[in-house]
Amino acid sequence: MDEERRIAAADEVSADETVVFTAKSGFETTEGILTRRDDGSVIAFTNYCPHWRDVRLDTGSSALVRNGELVCQKHGATFEKQSGDCNFGPCEGAVLDTFEVTVDDGAVYLTDDEWDAAEPGLSEERDLSSGGRIDF
Ligand code: FES
Repeated sequence: MDEERRIAAADEVSADETVVFTAKSGFETTEGILTRRDDGSVIAFTNYCPHWRDVRLDTGSSALVRNGELVCQKHGATFEKQSGDCNFGPCEGAVLDTFEVTVDDGAVYLTDDEWDAAEPGLSEERDLSSGGRIDF
């Protein structure tokens, strides 16, 4: 696997918290979060709420995970970890976008063709002043 795509050690990713990372492609960056689903597999979602896309789910010390669901702490929307479906809250019916990731030899890699590299942590370049808001 390409070390530029390594996000985290697989055993850093648990079911009751998230690990934030930054995906890069050229000058473009975005943030994602890793977590484990009930079946033990690792999944990666985009790190913003579909309700207000300038709101991070994980601000650097894990998103809130409650009863096996990701919770947006701004207005309380909840997302199923299996699918990213919002099943409660102001953006109910929306779905978190995913990244393709692969676990190989004890590490998680960003294997999504849309992105060239990944690194752990928040993006320093992320502009939170823009981004659409769904007003309800
Ligand atoms: S910003 Fe996430 S529920 Fe409103």
